[in-house]
Amino acid sequence: MTNATNIVWHESAVSKQDRLQLNKHQSPVLWFTGLSGSGKSTVTVALEKALFEQGIRTYRLDGDNIRHGLNNNLGFSPEDRTENIRRIGEVAKLMSDAGLITLTAFISPYQEDRDNVRALLPEGDFVEIFVKCSLDGCEKRDPKGLYQKARSGEIKGFTGIDAPYEEPVNPELTIDTEENSVEEAVSTIIQYLKTNKYIQ
Ligand code: PPS
Repeated sequence: MTNATNIVWHESAVSKQDRLQLNKHQSPVLWFTGLSGSGKSTVTVALEKALFEQGIRTYRLDGDNIRHGLNNNLGFSPEDRTENIRRIGEVAKLMSDAGLITLTAFISPYQEDRDNVRALLPEGDFVEIFVKCSLDGCEKRDPKGLYQKARSGEIKGFTGIDAPYEEPVNPELTIDTEENSVEEAVSTIIQYLKTNKYIQ
């Protein structure tokens, strides 16, 4: 959907397939979703490093970082979260087209928003990874002190406290960060990428 008229799509002389051939790997969007403090950032940082060390081209998009720039006009209302995820989906699609394995670390609390990103991408290019950690566990970690602020009413509409989080219905992978170490999580994901021929 676009509001603009008189716009024409231009094809490039170099295709996504050309780029994938050059890179020698596929370019899925690895979409990490989970509560604040569940470990999305920690796992994606470690995974990106491990992939990079294997010569794989990657890029990581992270909630806090993107909200400083591209999405700095968005807050945490349901509508703004949906728009946040829509824009990230479009950016991830461009990165995937550019041949990168894109790792996204956003709460992305609504199943419908995540499904919309899946629908935006070619079949198989969206890998939904549920970063599972109980609310209690996230609250105990509380790395940024945000749960404490949410409990005291200083932050309103905090995910898991007074805003919803919809667990993925049928994710490609679930990483339980209360049961597994970061290294185990990274190795599970890399194994999945190999088994499904995203990487060699
Ligand atoms: S969303 O729901 O996907 O649009 O959120 P996201 O862009 O991932 O941003 C989540 C980070 O923003 C901080 N933060 C909040 N999170 C949830 N609810 C409220 N109200 C809120 N206010 C600020 C918080 O640091 C989140 O970071 P993570 O890395 O998830 O802990």
